[in-house]
Amino acid sequence: MKNKTAVIILAAGKSKRMKTGTVKVLHKVSGKHIIDYVFDAAGKAKLTDICLVVGYQAGKLKETYKGKVLFAEQAKQLGTGHAVEVGLKSLKKRFDNVVILYGDMPLIEAGDIKKLVNYHNKNKFDATVLSVKVDNPGDFGRIIRNKSGSIEGIIEVKDATPAQLKINEVNTGIYCFKFDALKKALSGIGYANKQKEKYLTDTVSYLVKKKASVSVYVSDNKNLAVGINTRVDLANVNDIINKAKLEKLMLSGVTVIDPRTTYIHNDVKIMPDTVIHPFTIIEGKTSIGPNCSIGPFVRITDSVIENDVGIGPFAYIRPGTVINDNAKIGDFVEIKNSKVGSYSKVPHLSYIGDSILGQRVNIGAGVITCNYDGLSKNQTVISDNCFVGANCNLVAPVKLGKGSKTGAGSVVTKDVPDNTLAVGIPARAIKKLKK
Ligand code: UD1
Ligand code: CA
Repeated sequence: MKNKTAVIILAAGKSKRMKTGTVKVLHKVSGKHIIDYVFDAAGKAKLTDICLVVGYQAGKLKETYKGKVLFAEQAKQLGTGHAVEVGLKSLKKRFDNVVILYGDMPLIEAGDIKKLVNYHNKNKFDATVLSVKVDNPGDFGRIIRNKSGSIEGIIEVKDATPAQLKINEVNTGIYCFKFDALKKALSGIGYANKQKEKYLTDTVSYLVKKKASVSVYVSDNKNLAVGINTRVDLANVNDIINKAKLEKLMLSGVTVIDPRTTYIHNDVKIMPDTVIHPFTIIEGKTSIGPNCSIGPFVRITDSVIENDVGIGPFAYIRPGTVINDNAKIGDFVEIKNSKVGSYSKVPHLSYIGDSILGQRVNIGAGVITCNYDGLSKNQTVISDNCFVGANCNLVAPVKLGKGSKTGAGSVVTKDVPDNTLAVGIPARAIKKLKK
C-alpha cells in the first residue's frame, strides 16, 4: 500500500530581515506570492494534505488561502521545531510520513520533493534531510557528518564553530520524517542554542543519538540553496525565475531581443515567431499568439493577444483586454478592459477603456474614450469600419455605428448611426456616407 504523506509548510516567522509590514511569504516574485511556488511544488508532487503554519499576520494568510489548506496557528514564534509541533497537532489524523517545507524557498520543484520521498520510503528511513553542496553556504545550516560519512546533525550558522562554517553541504529546509519519529524527536529536544528557539534541525541529532535511521538525500539542484530572507534575496530569486522563463520561451521559438530588460511572468503563454523587444513586461495570465511584435517599452497585464498583432513602442495593455489578429496598437496608447477587432488600428496617443472596437476600425491620434463619469464606468462601442478623427472624445455610454466617421476634435455624446459623418462639440450628424 502507498504511504500516506502529509506536508507541513512553515510560514509563521516574523520576516525580520525583510523589514516589512507584509508577511514575507506574501511578497511577490515574478507576479506570484513566494509561498505559491511552494504550494505548486507540493501539488505537482501529488501531496494534497497540506498544513500551513501561520503566526505573524496569520489573518492575512488565512484570508488569502482560505479553503485551500489546513491552518495551524503558532501564536509565538519559538522556532522551526516548535512550528512543526504546532502543525502536527493540527493534523486530524496520523500519517505515515510528514514532509516539511519552508515557505520562503520558492525555487523548490516537485521533482525535488518526489525524489526525497521515494528515497525515504524505499530505504524505510526514520528521517531524511535534503541537502545540497554549494560554493557559498551563506546563512544555511551546515550538515555535520561523522568519519564514515553518516549524518550526525545540522548546525545553525549562529551556533557553528569556524571549522563547521567551512562545511559546504547545507540544509535546504526540506525533510521527510516518519510521523512517529518526528513527534517523538520534537518532544525530546529543547531550546538550548544562541537564539533560544526550538530548532527543527535539532531533531536530526536527537534521532541519530536514539539510533534511529537518519539519512541525507544530496540534491544537485543548487537553487535549493537559494531562499528569501532579505529584499536582496527577493530580487535575486526574481531574476532566476525570470531568466528561466525567458530561456523556456526562446527555446520554444519566441525571440527575446534583450533578456536583460525583459520581464515575463511564469504563467504567460507566447507562441513561436513572436518577437519581444527590449524593456517589455508581460504579466499575469496573458497569452500572446504567433507572429506578433511586442515592444519596445510595453507593459501587458492579464490580456489576450491573437496572432500577427503589433504593440508598441510605449503601450500599456491593462487587464481584460483582447486584441484580435492583425490589429495594431502604437505608441503612447493605453487600453483597458476592451476588445479590439481584427485589422483595427490604434496607432498613437489614445486611451481606450471599457470599449468594443469592431474590425478594420481606424482610431486617429489622440482619441480618448471618456469611460468614467465620476460615478461609474461606461462602455464605448466603435463598430466595424469606423474612422474616428484625430483628437475626438467619445463620451460613454456611446456607440458609433458601422462605417461612421467623426471629424477631428469632435466630442461625441450621442450615438452616431451607421454610415454617418458627425462633427463638432457636441458632435452632430451632418451627412450620410456612401457605403
Ligand atoms: C532555516 C534552517 C536552516 C536551513 C534554512 C533553509 C532551522 C533552525 N534552520 O534557517 O538550517 O538551512 O532554513 O532555508 O530550521 N518559521 C516559523 N516559526 C518560527 C520560526 C520560523 O513558522 O518560529 C518559518 C519561517 O516563516 C520560514 C521558515 O520557518 O518560512 C524558516 O525560518 P527562517 O527563520 O527563515 O530560518 P533560517 O534562518 O532561514
Ligand atoms: Ca529562511
